[in-house]
Amino acid sequence: MAVSPLLIGMPEMRQSSLVVVANRLPIDDSVAPDGACEWRRSPGGLVGALHPLLRHTPATWVGWAGGAGSAPALPDVDGVRMHTVALSRDDLRDHYEGFSNATLWPLYHDAVEQPQHHRRWWEAYQRVNQRFAEATAEVAEQGGIVWVQDYHLQLVPGLLRALRPDLRIGFFLHVPFPPPELFMQLPRRAELLRGMLGADLVGFQRAQAAHNFAQLVTKVLELPATDRRIGIDDRVVRIGAFPVSIDTAEMAALAARPEVAARARRLRRDLGDPRQVILSVDRMDYTKGIEQRLKAYSELLASGDVKVRDTVLVQVAMPSRERVGQYQILRERIEREVGRINGEFGRVGEPAIHYLTQPFDRAELAALYRVADVMAVTPLRDGMNLVAKEYVAARVDGAGALLLSEFAGTAAELPEAYLVNPHDLEGLKQGLCAALRASPTDVGQRMRAMRAYLHQHDIRAWARSYLSALDEAGALINRLASTDGTLDGAARVPAPATPAASPATHHAGG
Ligand code: ADP
Ligand code: G6P
Repeated sequence: MAVSPLLIGMPEMRQSSLVVVANRLPIDDSVAPDGACEWRRSPGGLVGALHPLLRHTPATWVGWAGGAGSAPALPDVDGVRMHTVALSRDDLRDHYEGFSNATLWPLYHDAVEQPQHHRRWWEAYQRVNQRFAEATAEVAEQGGIVWVQDYHLQLVPGLLRALRPDLRIGFFLHVPFPPPELFMQLPRRAELLRGMLGADLVGFQRAQAAHNFAQLVTKVLELPATDRRIGIDDRVVRIGAFPVSIDTAEMAALAARPEVAARARRLRRDLGDPRQVILSVDRMDYTKGIEQRLKAYSELLASGDVKVRDTVLVQVAMPSRERVGQYQILRERIEREVGRINGEFGRVGEPAIHYLTQPFDRAELAALYRVADVMAVTPLRDGMNLVAKEYVAARVDGAGALLLSEFAGTAAELPEAYLVNPHDLEGLKQGLCAALRASPTDVGQRMRAMRAYLHQHDIRAWARSYLSALDEAGALINRLASTDGTLDGAARVPAPATPAASPATHHAGG
């Protein structure tokens, strides 16, 4: 996404009736090959989900622009106002890389890597959450709606309520919320729970997460809680599951473009016209199960179940959180393994794995999805996994097999995928073979069912169900259903005098 030139000086401070607060803004300050500053779409599913949703709404997005030091003044992005929060180098190290991504992230993903605990990180987490709450308090209109996102900002709802009790506050967690026995490891567990309870509605990807949260609130804070509502002070906080999604129609339209179809054909030729293409697209993260997948593939090559000339694997692995030690080690291990597999099984001009670490634009991703006979999405744990949904949306031809981990939130919604347990190496190999050898009829039936589901359950349906639960008065949902389908003019709704009567749990499964 090209966003330049930047505005000179700070834009005037205007207030919005809808404010989204996320650690990341939808654009990210990255360095171009010539060393110049370049603005790109930020990585990850949160931005991928929210950015198309908010386009052309008079909302404000409060977040961090990706660098260290003073906050750049940014122009509106697709009509959405950008309000930047500055992070110093210490904040980056201790809040973003430390508490958010070396304590909470591994802990919330089943501790597949060891979570680390440092008191300095917690201090930074509190400090940065306070700064986000203050920035939000400045830009939210009287009686407006604030929608706080994800694990970096769990204290913001409580801090913001103290500053601005007039606001309607929602919180949504994009990642899994762990079972009590894991969450109880956190030295500051009570504060984190209390922070989230500053919201009027706490949303999760899955009903199990809401259940874990209710159990913890009862155990740690001794508050009355069910899987739908929690009483705190004189308020009721509603909780529920709202599985996030994608702009299905947009991805389908992109994939259907003649130039994308032509690009897919060219990609297949460039890959040597193999009989079958397997694709994986991940942020380079230890939760994504990349190493386990490579091991399964390598064993299939060794046993002869898969042959390099027939089948190619394209692994896109975009580097992520590169200053965090666990991510550096992971990248080294993956690259060593890709090198080993290519050395052992590749031929001149025919690598076993095409390994790509570059960011791609949406059209190129759509072309890659169209070329993939099997899309392998096998995280060890994932809040949702939007890549799996993008793949299904892009298969306008009705073909393509989705190999999907049982441990991705998506699995509860797309049971027609070829489901595997990525911890079980033999099961992973069998699942990959089953997807590769499935009959076109079976593949087509499964894909049809998944596409029908995603056309109903897209990003707008997600926002509608969340915001209507947050806004009992119903004004927001009417706006969302407006002809252009945007959130246009949303949120000019006074907070209700009494808490909502019926909490919402919208979920397709487990
Ligand atoms: P996470 O949020 O953990 O990264 P998701 O699968 O939910 O996982 O979302 C990843 C998002 O990042 C998707 O929208 C996907 O299209 C995008 N993405 C992944 N790899 C790349 C890449 N190399 N270039 C551009 N976008 C990418
Ligand atoms: C996941 C998280 C998001 C995060 C994204 C990318 O999707 O839920 O909050 O923005 O990963 O990670 P990063 O650390 O680059 O923001």
